[in-house]
Amino acid sequence: MKSSKLLKYSYSKVFAPATVSNVGPGFDTFGFALDKLGDIIEARVNVGNGITISGITGDNGMLSRNIKKNTASVAALSLLKAINADFGLDIIINKNMPFSSGIGSSAASAVGAAIAVNSLLRKKLSDEEVLLHALEGEKIASAGDIHADNVAPAYYGGFTIVRSLSPVDIIRLPFPKAITCVIIYPHISITTKESRKVLPIQVPIGTAVKQSANAGALIAGILTGNNKLISRSMIDSIAEPHRIQLIPHYNELRTFMLEQGALNFNISGSGPTVFSLFEDMQKAKQVKSEIINQLKALKIEADVYLSKINQQGPLQLGLD
Ligand code: HSE
Repeated sequence: MKSSKLLKYSYSKVFAPATVSNVGPGFDTFGFALDKLGDIIEARVNVGNGITISGITGDNGMLSRNIKKNTASVAALSLLKAINADFGLDIIINKNMPFSSGIGSSAASAVGAAIAVNSLLRKKLSDEEVLLHALEGEKIASAGDIHADNVAPAYYGGFTIVRSLSPVDIIRLPFPKAITCVIIYPHISITTKESRKVLPIQVPIGTAVKQSANAGALIAGILTGNNKLISRSMIDSIAEPHRIQLIPHYNELRTFMLEQGALNFNISGSGPTVFSLFEDMQKAKQVKSEIINQLKALKIEADVYLSKINQQGPLQLGLD
């Protein structure tokens, strides 16, 4: 290891969770973190001055090893540049979630890397600064557009609202503890870039009004634990109507999930993953096998995950 006055540790290992973003009417602003699924990022100080990606597991060789094209290394580079680092890093990315799937794979890598690098430092950066470095990584996954609706819940855990990024203003809400998310990940890949291409540049004023009414109502439902209000306000009038065409059997799945007692049914982020919230884990577990049978009947190859809202967020798994 190279000795540097900036460093307190030489190795850091961090878990950062998968996330659901948009959550109905919160296009580019609402998101929540998931249990279990996510990335584990390792950062080890090396003798050089730059960054290398020394390994990626769980990606079937699909992710870029080019440090300028991988969200983890771009986030780490951004942070190193900001502190004028006089040391280099080897990064290992362990993926435990699908990518180009709409559950925040690029954000999990970027957040995990930014936190892993920050935790090596003698003088740590603030949460807002680290989050902005993670966002630099996330930017490359969405062709330069800035939206932090996956990065924010991956960073803080729980349910988050990104009110502003300049200055950073992220609100974390207490979420009803029993509510359980059922995630259906069909085995097709849609990049955020592709999924944003189908969106209109402008929306009619009536649509904007509907969206803000539902967004306000959803937050009120979450804060008061009113499941019926959550159910009737989880409607995205801006992005989802245009993206349905990208997701095979969206309408059949939606009808089926509502019949099973789902509070509602939405695309997760930019898709293709779709999700429903259920009142509690018991209910979600009861319907899981019905959902799997329905997916088979519709000939959709997919994985189904059940998850509570992950209140904890990232975890430091190793530091020395
Ligand atoms: N909110 C983004 C979108 C995806 O729907 O395009 C995640 O940032």
